[in-house]
Amino acid sequence: MRFAKITDRVANLAANKWAVHFEGKQRRDAGEKLIFLSIGEPDLPPAPAILEVAAKKMQAGRTRYSGGNGEAPLLDALSKHYTKQTGRAIAPDQFLFLPGTQTALAVAFLSIIEPDDEVILLDPYYATYEAVISAPGGIPVSVRLDADRGFHPDVARIEHAITPRTRAILLNSPSNPTGAVFTEAEIRDISALAVKHDLWIVSDEVYATLIHGDEKFYSPFFDKALEERVIVCSSISKSHALPGFRAGWIAASAAYCEKVISVSETLLFGSPQFLQDATAYALTHEFAETREMQRLYVARAKALLKGLRGSNKVTARMPEGGMFVMVDVRKTGLSGEAFSLRLLREKNVVTMPGESFGLSAAGHLRVALSVDEAEIAEAARRIAELAAEII
Ligand SMILES: Cc1ncc(COP(=O)(O)O)c(C=O)c1O
Repeated sequence: MRFAKITDRVANLAANKWAVHFEGKQRRDAGEKLIFLSIGEPDLPPAPAILEVAAKKMQAGRTRYSGGNGEAPLLDALSKHYTKQTGRAIAPDQFLFLPGTQTALAVAFLSIIEPDDEVILLDPYYATYEAVISAPGGIPVSVRLDADRGFHPDVARIEHAITPRTRAILLNSPSNPTGAVFTEAEIRDISALAVKHDLWIVSDEVYATLIHGDEKFYSPFFDKALEERVIVCSSISKSHALPGFRAGWIAASAAYCEKVISVSETLLFGSPQFLQDATAYALTHEFAETREMQRLYVARAKALLKGLRGSNKVTARMPEGGMFVMVDVRKTGLSGEAFSLRLLREKNVVTMPGESFGLSAAGHLRVALSVDEAEIAEAARRIAELAAEII
């Protein structure tokens, strides 16, 4: 049978990036004990109160079809959340409720990209970005971020990559994998480029609530003047440790949502009512569990850095946000891939090679802060030990 080209465009885009993780997983499934730092899945349980709302609403019959961009209580909750976050009025008709940031990104690019349109991607980048851009026929154009500048953007380099075919810039701050939180000035400079060249800005803000230091989260969506060109994609997967709810959204202009609702309905025909109820509840309440989760990510990152401090071969910077730390292994002379593979085979620690996220992360490991402090400290000890053994 003949298949549509989309199946080839997205095939295997990510498969080889996960080789170390899959090898580790196979060994774990066979009963071996390994330290797993490869996946960005929150290990902490979500707030029980949110689960209770979901369960009660499901039992109360909130299991019917629900079309459109989302039901009124959820859209009100999103509106309040974004009005507070952005400091300007964001109306309930500025959202499309979708199954997670991933679907939001896919809908975003389906709605703005024609075949051969180019999308600027800041390298290193999250593993599925190439696929969401390529699905509608777009061409990812990567722009390097410098490890030695903490993976912050160089705006001149971004402008240099813009061509007449460029349609959008994809941002992700706080970043997976780098942990960088772009400053207001950086976002404003990139936004000015988008205005100058009439580009969309797709902003993946799934880690927006995980800011660790003195940095402040800033989004191009904060600026009313940019509203017509900004598509924010986010969810409660990381903020509330609920990735399995697949509860996410697009926040954009009302005009965008009105135009694109037909795309999301084509795919979904509405979202589960009880998950909308639970998401509305999550967005309008404070939870001790989410505050504790934020505290723990910082403590774990510090434990990792402390464990590496004695090494003269491996270093890491405190992440500004998110749930990952980049460990620089360039001084060992090994690539991130080679180091990560040896770390698995010789020290039973599973990490992601930086190369899995783009060329700029070569010679790095991405460490997920998804195990407790003691285990992170032990992983750091083994990373430093392996580095010392490499001559
Ligand atoms: C940068 C980034 N974007 C999107 C996602 C997917 O998030 P969601 O669970 O909301 O689809 C992830 C998950 O790891 C991520 O790291």
